[in-house]
Amino acid sequence: MRTSLPPHRSNKPRRTVSIVGTGSYVPERVLTNHDLEKMVDTSDQWIRTRTGIRERRIAKDDEATSDMATRASLAAMEQAKVAPEEIDLIIVATATPDHSFPATACFVQKKIGAINAACFDVSAACSGFLYALEIAQQFISTHVYNTVLIVGADKLSTITDWTDRNTCVLFGDGAGAALLRNRPDSHGVISTHMGSDGTFTDILMMPGGGTRCPITPENIHERLNTIHMAGKEVYKQAVTSMFNSATRALHDAGLRYEDIDCVIPHQANLRIIEAIADRMGLPMDKFYINLDRFGNTSAAAVAMALDEAHRTGRIQIGDYILLVVFGGGLTWASSVIQW
Ligand code: UT7
Repeated sequence: MRTSLPPHRSNKPRRTVSIVGTGSYVPERVLTNHDLEKMVDTSDQWIRTRTGIRERRIAKDDEATSDMATRASLAAMEQAKVAPEEIDLIIVATATPDHSFPATACFVQKKIGAINAACFDVSAACSGFLYALEIAQQFISTHVYNTVLIVGADKLSTITDWTDRNTCVLFGDGAGAALLRNRPDSHGVISTHMGSDGTFTDILMMPGGGTRCPITPENIHERLNTIHMAGKEVYKQAVTSMFNSATRALHDAGLRYEDIDCVIPHQANLRIIEAIADRMGLPMDKFYINLDRFGNTSAAAVAMALDEAHRTGRIQIGDYILLVVFGGGLTWASSVIQW
């Protein structure tokens, strides 16, 4: 029986963990609100005013989640100038893995040649990227690993019911990635808060395809292999959970809302973002928003927005960033980072 911690974890001070590179990828095919008008009983006007979404991207049939995750990862590695062999751990957050097993992270490992990495997936729906961020942060700050690649990637188009106007107008496909490392004497993750409430499992789920309800021709006919959502209830919970979680993370960071330079929220619905901005007492120009172009890409959404905000110069060295997400489970999380 082990009586003490292994030497590499012994009593060293916790290290600062920084995001040293970001990347993202979206498929080429654009599906506009006008395209959806031809598929279900909806209108561009309804979708824009109720959600803020104008268009979303749809992956090709032969483009799996790991393919998108790989493209985002390579972009992050190029930006960070990190070679594949240097990566110690790959975590992919997804609700739409290539297969039930092996983990999508293993497929990413093979494609990028990260031969020294351990790999696993995280299942926290739209909140997965920040769950992965916190796991990576723990491993690096405690000296277990030096370089961790985290990815949020989802191909929701494969589990969307394209005959259900309540859900099909909301989602899109994409991937976002970040590389995390200890950067001595630098900025990094200051605090993270994660939470879940399993009493709400049934308001946002895919009922079929697991051990509770294996796929059969009958339940495919009933579309149990697609996203089922009680939209209004999810909306209410999203606003409350994101606000409470963000407030907690800020408190742990010793900061106030007015100290934050940029909020990067989960990109589900513009009205949800407006509601949390109102509660936070922050103007909308503090929020980075790209849901108009990509819709809700689940675990990818906050990762893609972070990469865009970084590459376009919306966030600058020294800025205080608040990431806040929400998703099925229910799950939620917030991270405060000094860039
Ligand atoms: O990643 C996290 C997961 N998801 C979310 O965060 C989504 C959270 N929920 C929402 O964003 C919103 O609840 C929705 C966008 C899904 C719906 O907006 P809403 O304002 O809550 O609309 P509603 O569901 O109350 O529906 C209002 C009306 C209904 O018609 P009636 O019953 O008033 O006649 C719906 O049938 O709008 C109708 N409707 C639509 N009409 C045109 C629902 N979807 C559509 C549509 N086009 N696509």
